Amino acid sequence: MPMEREAQGAALQGSQRVTTRVETHGEPKIGIEEFMSICERFGFSVDTLERIRAVVSEEDWGEGPFLANYYSGLPETKVQAFERAAREIFGVPYAMGLSSGTGALHAALVGAGVGPDTEVICAALGFFATASAVMLTGATPVFCDVDDSLHLDPTKLEALITPKTVAIAPTHVMGAVCDMGPIIEVAQRRGLKVIEDCAQACGATYRGAYVGTLGDYGCFSISAYKIVGGGEGGLLLAKSHELWERAAQLAEAGGLWRPDRFAPPRYAGELFPGTNYRMSELEAAVDVVQLRKMPDAVARFRRAKRAILDRLQTYREIQPQRSNDPDGDVGYTLRFFPRDVELSARIAADLRAAGVDAAARGPNAAPDWHSYAYMYPLQTRSAWPPPACPVCDDLFERMVTVSVNQWSTDDHCRRIADAMNAVFDKHCTRDDNARAWR
Ligand SMILES: Cc1ncc(COP(=O)(O)O)c(C=O)c1O
Repeated sequence: MPMEREAQGAALQGSQRVTTRVETHGEPKIGIEEFMSICERFGFSVDTLERIRAVVSEEDWGEGPFLANYYSGLPETKVQAFERAAREIFGVPYAMGLSSGTGALHAALVGAGVGPDTEVICAALGFFATASAVMLTGATPVFCDVDDSLHLDPTKLEALITPKTVAIAPTHVMGAVCDMGPIIEVAQRRGLKVIEDCAQACGATYRGAYVGTLGDYGCFSISAYKIVGGGEGGLLLAKSHELWERAAQLAEAGGLWRPDRFAPPRYAGELFPGTNYRMSELEAAVDVVQLRKMPDAVARFRRAKRAILDRLQTYREIQPQRSNDPDGDVGYTLRFFPRDVELSARIAADLRAAGVDAAARGPNAAPDWHSYAYMYPLQTRSAWPPPACPVCDDLFERMVTVSVNQWSTDDHCRRIADAMNAVFDKHCTRDDNARAWR
């Protein structure tokens, strides 16, 4: 520490006080061109970019920007501001900014007591990061099949619980929500922790409560591709102080989270080997703003999706995705399952030709790590190949996904719905008794 070295210097030299601290200005730590190329990615106007360049070029940064999350000398770092925004928006007492969603999952799993020779029940559909984080702890992921909502089927949980099971890690898929009521009921009855993977559903709600606030932990990815995102980041919500501390020790093993960083453990199990998943200040500067925009973005997505759904006809060969909470869905995708894979491919192709942003896997599709069946990074252990989850296998292959744009006007939505009805009319049979769109 500079201050310690200064004190030593003073003691050694007596009245001839020396300082080891460099007091003159050094080379700017910041690379102007590198910084400007990042600014360009924000899409600022040419005028604004010129003004930023002028400021960055003039400023003498001395020892350079101090972008660590701690010891900044500021009343609140950007990461702390991000965590405060998360606590306020989600209405929870404990929130932690991290470097990734995978880091958040790893910290939550260890915080929940998951480790070698234990098991965690994961959803067959989501993303491989959940099961991968389970394996990072030394535990084994056990896949639970999904139902026609594309989410973990709560009726299949009991049969997968063994004496080694420590937690259930349900994933909220593509803006929609798991049926958390029965999942939490099983977990409480069987003494298991619940770790929600909310990476794809930030802002979704279940029976009025934000996902991520229902289980013991809520884990979010704040990467560029997500509902809230800047570059690479993660967010963890914890139900209790104890759970927050355990996750903090895994994610910030430098001990900076502790009141007295280097002190001996205050209680058995407080300290254990962890790693560093700290969020950077640059990332937090973006994410704190992005997170505050989330409620409005979610409202726009919901309005647009509802405007499309309300205009769709029902068809014998088309099964809409069932929703565990139609009002809670973020609404950035609209999904349905045509009768077979070939029909899915034809419908998706015709929708794209009509200008609708639609995708289907189609016959002979490439592997995709969103389904348990293709999670090849997990192959390194004996748990591979996992037992089959037939509902996931079937629905994943037949699924058509239509992307919803939050900025679509009512007129756009009407035209998308008209195009969808026209394509369905071409390939399918209208049926007023078929499952309704919700
Ligand atoms: C369901 C799910 N969990 C976890 C992650 C991992 O998040 P990150 O890329 O921030 O580590 C993702 C990212 O796509 C995801 O979709």
